[in-house]
Amino acid sequence: MEIGLVDKVRERRVGYVKRINAKSRNKPYCRVKRHVPKSLQQLFHSCKQTFKGPETVPVTQDVHKLCHILDNMKLEDVGLSRDLQFFKPGNIIKENQRVTYTTVYKCDNFSVCMFFLPERGVIPLHNHPGMTVFSKLLLGQMHIKSYDWLPHASPNSKLRMAKLKANKVLTSPCDTSVLYPTTGGNIHEFTAITPCAVLDVIGPPYSKQHDRDCSYYRDFPCDDAHQKEIGKVKDENDSYALLEEIQMPQNCQMDGIQYLGPPIDDTVF
Ligand SMILES: [Fe+2]
Repeated sequence: MEIGLVDKVRERRVGYVKRINAKSRNKPYCRVKRHVPKSLQQLFHSCKQTFKGPETVPVTQDVHKLCHILDNMKLEDVGLSRDLQFFKPGNIIKENQRVTYTTVYKCDNFSVCMFFLPERGVIPLHNHPGMTVFSKLLLGQMHIKSYDWLPHASPNSKLRMAKLKANKVLTSPCDTSVLYPTTGGNIHEFTAITPCAVLDVIGPPYSKQHDRDCSYYRDFPCDDAHQKEIGKVKDENDSYALLEEIQMPQNCQMDGIQYLGPPIDDTVF
């Protein structure tokens, strides 16, 4: 994306906090500190220690450490402010505004990204093949629905059975959520109730080249035949659904923007 366009998207979509210079004095940006916030640098350091290779599934101790850092992170740590127009509840900048994402840092073993959802913005049901994902809702309120594949569900069938893991509303400040390759709600959907900012640590990152592309799904209630199939193993409180892989819905396409918050210093490790 050319810089001019990135600037336009940034202003309209998120209004990223930016250093003030002579040219941008009239724009609604805040001044940002030049130093990297300690928490962002700590996050990077902990990610480096945790994700040693693309096969890494973090051990409990590393999960706790990363969660602790993320739990204490704030919008300001990534150069944002709740005063930005984008985050004002009910303040719809543009109808049908799309979800926006930016990459704070990426290497072969992990990535740190942010997603900005406008009010009613949706990130449809999608998976994270072989990945562990830490999600911290920095601002806003959103509904989250997530599933895990049933172990015996055939990966090749058109409709694949999944167990509902979460179906709830998150309101910031809240604890970091973690999903794993086969548990914790690896397939999830976000629907913003108010404008939201989500900070994600993804290890390993998506990679078409390494067979870790993102797939999208829609969910259906289980039919009688499938209900019967799981009847024997079903717990009373469990819910199940059938997931069908789909193309990413046109109205859920996302816009990528340049990260303009404080940069991580990857030479200090
Ligand atoms: Fe996700």
